[in-house]
Amino acid sequence: MISASNLSVRLSDKPVLHGVSVEARAGELTAIVGPNGSGKTTTLKAIAGEVAYDGTVRINGHDIAALKPWELALKRAVLPQSTVISFPFTVREIVRMGLSIGGTAGAAQTDRIAQEALEAVDLTGFSGRFYQELSGGEQQRVQMARVLCQIWEPVTSGEPSFLLLDEPVSSLDIRHQLTIMRLARDFCSRGGGVIAIMHDLNLTAMFADRMIMMKTGRVHAAGSPQEVMTDEIMEAVFGCAMRVNVTPHGTVPFVLPHTAAH
Ligand SMILES: Nc1ncnc2c1ncn2[C@@H]1O[C@H](COP(=O)(O)OP(=O)(O)O)[C@@H](O)[C@H]1O
Ligand SMILES: [Mg+2]
Repeated sequence: MISASNLSVRLSDKPVLHGVSVEARAGELTAIVGPNGSGKTTTLKAIAGEVAYDGTVRINGHDIAALKPWELALKRAVLPQSTVISFPFTVREIVRMGLSIGGTAGAAQTDRIAQEALEAVDLTGFSGRFYQELSGGEQQRVQMARVLCQIWEPVTSGEPSFLLLDEPVSSLDIRHQLTIMRLARDFCSRGGGVIAIMHDLNLTAMFADRMIMMKTGRVHAAGSPQEVMTDEIMEAVFGCAMRVNVTPHGTVPFVLPHTAAH
């Protein structure tokens, strides 16, 4: 379980987060949604230990402030919102960076795991390609393969690990969006946990166990998609009129804006 309590962050002397609390359980996909600039990335960075914060972040009861970098790297892997790589690395080299950080695999396993991670993101055969020569969506899937290599086993020595994903499907076509969301769900069903920042509310409703809705550096609402996807909460968070409905053959909510023009 990840338990972040009362996180406050200032960036360049500007207050960005104001007492944000987030809980993410193993076995569950927790989605963070909210408008641009609402503090989603900053929250994920604080949970990852990548930005200075007031408050506490615990992973499986361990205060991350007391963990060494290599200990943290075994407990969580981070997919950043964008990754600029200025050296001509190949796909194979980038994916293996995950393995060298995680360090859970022996030498004999590394080739197999790197290969399987690329297969999982539908990039079989891309090993020798240069990262810079790939499309944005392909690059995003390479980064996802790297993250999977870092945390190949969702549970290690009885402790769940976590994937922290900042907009993992933002550049992907619909088929690959489903590929990546199913991978995240599969990681959860094998005992790990996932926190994913999402923009597509309908994809989120399909895949997330819990949604955390942020607005202006605070948590506005948190709960299951059924609980928090209401007309009132959606409008309050995103500032535009939206109508929530449910799919004809189930209970999954979906949302559409009231009108195309305003
Ligand atoms: N390095 C920085 N210095 C000052 N302000 C920043 C910095 N990085 C982000 N911000 C501001 O913090 C707020 C939250 O940013 P962010 O967490 O990236 O939002 P989100 O991911 O929800 O779009 C925004 O208003 C953004 O402009
Ligand atoms: Mg962001």
